[in-house]
Amino acid sequence: MTYLPDFIRIRWQRPSLDPKTPSLALLSPEELTRVGDRGFIQARMLLRELAGELLFLDPAAVPLSATCPDCGGPHGQPRIPGLTVSLSHCAAAIVAVAALEGTVGVDVEPLGGTAERDAAIADVTGGGGIRHWTSVEAALKADGRGLRVDPRGVNVTRVSATVGDARYELWHPELAGDLQTTVAWRA
Ligand SMILES: CC(C)(COP(=O)(O)OP(=O)(O)OC[C@H]1O[C@@H](n2cnc3c(N)ncnc32)[C@H](O)[C@@H]1OP(=O)(O)O)[C@@H](O)C(=O)NCCC(=O)NCCS
Ligand SMILES: [Zn+2]
Repeated sequence: MTYLPDFIRIRWQRPSLDPKTPSLALLSPEELTRVGDRGFIQARMLLRELAGELLFLDPAAVPLSATCPDCGGPHGQPRIPGLTVSLSHCAAAIVAVAALEGTVGVDVEPLGGTAERDAAIADVTGGGGIRHWTSVEAALKADGRGLRVDPRGVNVTRVSATVGDARYELWHPELAGDLQTTVAWRA
């Protein structure tokens, strides 16, 4: 079992959002423009709850923004003053992380994907598997540019990912047997 250091907090859920849930009241008007995207909405609510606990704020009062630098839309790197945070969602899980210091990124993918997915991952990682890919994505999300950076240029070991001159530490918490999750962090 991989344990995260105390300054990194993680929370996860299975996708389960009932779109009529009263907790939609937590969301900002900008977030509500994506209310049809359930993974997005559940991830934002999970992040607001986690950040609210750490900042001693009501989840609805957490000043969360995620403006895309390319188009201005509400789908960029999430930002909350006082923390660094990251989100990932797939068909099997919603994961939120928050770090009290440094810069953090997270990625979750289902284990046991299709042969096409595994071939695409092997192609983009130079023969790597799913953990290599979640390592690359977690590091590029901590970096903040995401896949604007060529993922082939990220150098990965089990415990680190290097993007240019920046070295990120990696952890692979075992949230459930069907998930591969990686957290990347840099001081
Ligand atoms: C970030 C990125 C690697 C995530 O890809 P993914 O594995 O398909 O999706 P995940 O569920 O793991 O992560 C998505 C979350 O990452 C976060 N995110 C988005 N851009 C990010 C960035 N540049 N850096 C860090 N986190 C980012 C968001 O919280 C997003 O959640 P949302 O879709 O609910 O808004 C990929 O979307 C990316 O590189 N985006 C930047 C390029 C881009 O999309 N530009 C848009 C131009 S209009
Ligand atoms: Zn955009």
